[in-house]
Amino acid sequence: MTPYVADPVYLNGRFLPLAEAGISPLDRGFLYGDGAYELVPVYSRRPFRLAEHLTRLQATLDGIRLANPLEASGWATVVERLIAEAPWDDQSIYLQVTRGADNKRDHAFPPASVPPTAFAFSSPLVTTPTEIRAKGVAAITVADDRWAHCDLKVVSLLANILARQQAVDAGCAEALLIRDGQLKEGAASNIFVVKDGVLLAPPKTSFMLPGITYDIVLELATCHGQPLEIREIQEDELRTADEVWMTSSTKEVLAITTLDGRPVGNGATAGKPGPLGERMWQWYQDFKQSVMRKG
Ligand code: PDD
Repeated sequence: MTPYVADPVYLNGRFLPLAEAGISPLDRGFLYGDGAYELVPVYSRRPFRLAEHLTRLQATLDGIRLANPLEASGWATVVERLIAEAPWDDQSIYLQVTRGADNKRDHAFPPASVPPTAFAFSSPLVTTPTEIRAKGVAAITVADDRWAHCDLKVVSLLANILARQQAVDAGCAEALLIRDGQLKEGAASNIFVVKDGVLLAPPKTSFMLPGITYDIVLELATCHGQPLEIREIQEDELRTADEVWMTSSTKEVLAITTLDGRPVGNGATAGKPGPLGERMWQWYQDFKQSVMRKG
């Protein structure tokens, strides 16, 4: 069976087999979910938008007042080696930093002498099969009951986990989070809406993770002259949208074609992926290719 995690993994300055990588049960990542993470897609053994992922990692670490154990160049070296030693061309690199393990449990930060825990590994990149992409996926809406710092990519993801599981229990791929009558994002994705040929994107606030894929979609829309509005999206606009898409590093651009059991859109494309989403997916593929060619 193909392993899900490649050997070696990276842990605190060392490259070693996963089976030999151990951390203390007192690690604050385990006790409190006190840490940050990133997931970097790799295509043809080249990390995609690595600098942007490392910048967001730094922003999260700054936001939770945790010193980054590595410089960006240090992370880049780790990522390079994990990619080189993994058996797959397309990978996803997971990076995590936690506030380390003290010799006791205390909510307040441990002394500065306690080093953070840095962990990274490569897995095969799991992409959406063509047949699923052609049909789009189903989603539900749920109340967004997360905290007020959703712009930080932290490992304490319980609210996201419960939302995503509610979707899975309903036979759906994603849960769209509604706060104060507005669409914020998905449990593990950003969400875009199309209405009357205009692409609508929720703005970057503390209630949304600033997605790397989200930025690329905005860049592509601008560069191709696609009408675009970055503003809050009301729940009724979501429900009467012509198209709804989810975006993330692993889902790329994926149409949501059923929402709370009802087809998205109307007319010929009701319940099917719409034309703009198809175009954006193609722009995204072309962009990826061009970046990979440039190296
Ligand atoms: N999640 N919003 C949330 C809450 C997310 O968890 C993610 C990604 C995104 C999209 O971000 P990006 O385009 O940078 O991947 C938006 C990753 C894939 C995860 O948790 O595994």
